[in-house]
Amino acid sequence: MRVFLTGASGFIGARIAECLAVTGGAQVHALIHRFGTAGAARVARLAGVRMFYGDLRDPHAIQQAAEGCAYFIHCATGTSGSRHVQEAITVEGTRHVLEAARRAKAERVVYFSSASVHGPARSSLIQDDHPFTGDFPYAKMKIQAEAVVAEYAARHRVPVVVLRPTCVWGPFSPNWTVAAVELIRRERAFLPLEGRGVANAVYIDNLVDAVWLALTAPEAVGEALLINDDEPGTWGELYGGYARQLGVPLRFVSAPPGMAQMWRVSCHNAGVILRHAMQGRTRAGIQLVRELYTQIPLAKGLLAVVPDGIKGRLKQYVTDRELVAGAASASSQSSSDFLPCDVLPRPTWELYASQGRYANAKAKRLLGWRPRVPFHEAMARTCQWLRYAGYAP
Ligand SMILES: NC(=O)c1ccc[n+]([C@@H]2O[C@H](COP(=O)([O-])OP(=O)(O)OC[C@H]3O[C@@H](n4cnc5c(N)ncnc54)[C@H](OP(=O)(O)O)[C@@H]3O)[C@@H](O)[C@H]2O)c1
Repeated sequence: MRVFLTGASGFIGARIAECLAVTGGAQVHALIHRFGTAGAARVARLAGVRMFYGDLRDPHAIQQAAEGCAYFIHCATGTSGSRHVQEAITVEGTRHVLEAARRAKAERVVYFSSASVHGPARSSLIQDDHPFTGDFPYAKMKIQAEAVVAEYAARHRVPVVVLRPTCVWGPFSPNWTVAAVELIRRERAFLPLEGRGVANAVYIDNLVDAVWLALTAPEAVGEALLINDDEPGTWGELYGGYARQLGVPLRFVSAPPGMAQMWRVSCHNAGVILRHAMQGRTRAGIQLVRELYTQIPLAKGLLAVVPDGIKGRLKQYVTDRELVAGAASASSQSSSDFLPCDVLPRPTWELYASQGRYANAKAKRLLGWRPRVPFHEAMARTCQWLRYAGYAP
């Protein structure tokens, strides 16, 4: 099996490449647009992977890299640059991949969308045919990209399966493992409802199983499938697993954010960061960026005025450095001077207090998919990796 894979240097793509090349015996053509990243180094070790330089916005590079491939997995998404650039990468990039698949008369294309296209699961069971109410810029981009996929499926009969995963966690997950652990380790993660908010999350290897099945299951063609594990049930279970590994208590918060408190904590902690920087206690740039994000509740709102290009580069810098150097380089010098940052921004509050679930019955029915790795095993593997990577003692 020869597979064209985009986003192979990313969190999910790299794990797909490992599983396809090592366990699945496939030949993988990996599209890489920046060779200097930790993710690119991760896939460069694999004998079954050939790396091709190319940007999703360049249709010729995609045609060349995909030559000879009958199976396509399109994982890449716009992660850096201005909003306009990210949209071009995500939407036009998807068109270029689908066009290459059409020309190659692909046997199967798996497209990575996101459960976020359906908007937040506030209170009910969200099915795979729920309307697209996601209104964050990321969700809007994914909705547009899905329209391109639907166009190619209808007009050109490209056999596509759309996967819509929920929050993907496990080894190398930048958001739902590394960043979460970093916050919990510094006792800066706060959950509402004593952690009883519903966690819609999928363990990385369970998601990779779904990809494998989507490449082969005949009933899946033309379908869009939510991919969500049955467990953990709550954020308290997921983050509690990390907290136990770190030997720190899980912290809770009882009220939605108030503006006055946000400002008080933000101003106090900004002063502490400034003092640390002037005293030379914040040594590395990466530390400073982390401090800004984790200690100042208003940072995300204030960062809205910073141009997207600069924010994108900053995010990439932090992610790359952390993956290479582990948490040790990003650790705070002293947390005791900071006021507890227990004022969650509204979207974070909504996520952690969610009472709704994304369904997974359709994926089970059409793919024969089951979350193969149970939660306790997934957590054990993740904690082993956290120790190995230096994020946990
Ligand atoms: N992680 C989650 O929790 C989650 C949940 C639901 C859906 N998804 C979807 O799953 C897919 C994979 O997510 P992920 O977490 O693995 O993302 P990720 O780690 O951010 O990886 C994104 C990949 O896209 C590549 N890329 C960015 N711009 C590119 C360009 N111009 N040309 C070619 N490649 C480019 C990146 O390469 P560089 O590293 O070189 O920039 C990277 O390999 C995405 O479509 C995402 O929307 C993710």
